Amino acid sequence: MEPATPSRLFRLGILGSGKGSNAAAIADACADGTIPARVAIVLSDVENAGILERARERKVPARFIHPGKSRASLDGPAEAAYVEALRAAEVDLVVMAGFMRIIRSGLLRAFANRVVNIHPALLPAFPGLEAWKQALEHGVKMTGVTVHFVDEGIDTGPIIAQATAPVLPGDTPQSLHARIQEVERRIYPTVIAALARGRIRVEGRQTIWQP
Ligand code: GRF
Repeated sequence: MEPATPSRLFRLGILGSGKGSNAAAIADACADGTIPARVAIVLSDVENAGILERARERKVPARFIHPGKSRASLDGPAEAAYVEALRAAEVDLVVMAGFMRIIRSGLLRAFANRVVNIHPALLPAFPGLEAWKQALEHGVKMTGVTVHFVDEGIDTGPIIAQATAPVLPGDTPQSLHARIQEVERRIYPTVIAALARGRIRVEGRQTIWQP
């Protein structure tokens, strides 16, 4: 991954299906210079997703692209359309922020080692859906957030960073998710800034942060 240079700003393509709090935090961190990058495009598989609205409010190009016939991933033509849109926007890093579909090999090959995701638990605990609910039901006292490179498994790629959030007495799924999301809004921009500066290398399962 080429880091940002004075002549060319590193370009992010964000994929999401939900309300877009991570995308908003990332776009704001780009706008205030905390992340040396620009959000080049936001794509969603949900036509009325908040993430598209959060992007448009910030004058970031935002598009709904139909996910096709597959329920859990993108079908072949849809995957090709996502890759084409990301390439057309000259994206350096694909940032998944609540994208509720499994990313398949076509997109991963097009952006090898350049797709990252945020997961609302301390992986490898509680992969998959509604990880905060899984944590609550399991009775853990501490959970958190993981940012990782995406591979073909579900939440299995090399871990880049983790941060904790306590589970407190009386927590509901909503209150715990809200606490986790506060942590997400801090950790994701920090990781993306480091990636944009070329400070993170991946070697097998290890990621190495360089000073
Ligand atoms: C976040 O909790 C993220 O960890 C999960 O989906 C949620 C997206 O939230 N993968 P938002 O749309 O960024 O507010």
